[in-house]
Amino acid sequence: MKFKTFCVAVVAFGTLAAHATNYDETNVGAYTLPDPLVCVDGSRVTNAETWTQKRRAEILELYRENIFGRSPDAGTNVTFSVWETSTNALGGAAVRKQIEINFSGTPDGPLAHLLLYTPAGKISAPTFLCLSFGGNHAAIDDSAIAIFPEWNWKTKQFGMPVNPVRGSAARNWKISEAIARGYGVAIVCYTEIEPDLANGAGFKYGVRKNFPSPQKNSWGGIGAWAWGASRALDYLWTDKDVDAQRVILFGHSRLGKTVLWAGAQDTRFAAVIANGSGEMGAALSRRDYGETVDDVCKRFGYWMCGNFQQFSNRWNALPVDSHFLISLIAPRPLFLNSGSEDKWADSMGEFLAARAATPVYELFGKTGITETSFPLLDQPLKHDLWLNCHVGKHDVLPSDWDKFLDFADAQFLKTK
Ligand code: GCU
Repeated sequence: MKFKTFCVAVVAFGTLAAHATNYDETNVGAYTLPDPLVCVDGSRVTNAETWTQKRRAEILELYRENIFGRSPDAGTNVTFSVWETSTNALGGAAVRKQIEINFSGTPDGPLAHLLLYTPAGKISAPTFLCLSFGGNHAAIDDSAIAIFPEWNWKTKQFGMPVNPVRGSAARNWKISEAIARGYGVAIVCYTEIEPDLANGAGFKYGVRKNFPSPQKNSWGGIGAWAWGASRALDYLWTDKDVDAQRVILFGHSRLGKTVLWAGAQDTRFAAVIANGSGEMGAALSRRDYGETVDDVCKRFGYWMCGNFQQFSNRWNALPVDSHFLISLIAPRPLFLNSGSEDKWADSMGEFLAARAATPVYELFGKTGITETSFPLLDQPLKHDLWLNCHVGKHDVLPSDWDKFLDFADAQFLKTK
């Protein structure tokens, strides 16, 4: 074979060997899901007590060792400073607080900035804790919100944003509506917890810098952001304007994966809303549709622990699948939301995972997803597990927030 022909053959073979993204339901192929109710020793869980004391702990351990890695228990050195309080925010409808979280309690930080609105005149409001992609000033047009340095991908350091626009991401939030319906809203930007840098370089600049060097089972990026969310919750526990027993954690996309993992580990979160969480979030990994484990290993391996790499092209060897992650939230309410055009995130895979986690909810006398067919678009299934698919892309739409607020009402006001 001539050299040129040989090279063409190698390239062609390489292309064939890489996994091609499948978007055809008829090509998904067969797979067998592990049973969440069968323990490592083969015994079967038949009641909530055994689930909580034995099986839940086993699954958490599998996730820690193989998927997201181990995070430190709590933040003993973390300090909070409420540096602004206004009792006349949003035209008098809200109390606004701006809180600095110092993750080391030393000048080296890192620092994150929590923005909190609670309804005026109300103590102990149930509150959404939201992980966001942008600075607090982007979430709402409120001139009193401080603008902080953010990670600059070009200069590779934190720097003041150039021409920041207040409220530039407001369409992804409904803060005033949430306040009007009696909820608090707390927001923190995930890259302040740790910058999201390819190959895990963010490790040097974020919360993980204060802990020993990573091992193959140490926390990856998602573990770091989830840990940061728990530290923000630590603050909320100290604030009398917030009902810390009723905090709903929200995140979209990679932050949808993050909130599932945060809610799985930290049972103080009363409920979780995971939007567009997709692969290694709520979508089944064994289902070959859209993004796969191989894609995550290749492009976003640094979100996971080192041990995760062994599952590239070996999805059936995973000791878990996403229905296990969902089951770690049980019996707490969970809302999975996705988009009809977001094929990459595999809405059907989320629906099937929620169904597969339903026996765990039922152990507690709760209702998971009992429907056998995928819901009509924008018609949420409303049980203890909520599931919706909006018309549209990978996004958080204003109409999604209407449903998130209804979900909160259903949990806390017992409306449906
Ligand atoms: C990529 C990635 C997804 C992730 C998304 C995001 O598309 O493949 O897994 O959810 O980015 O976070 O924006």
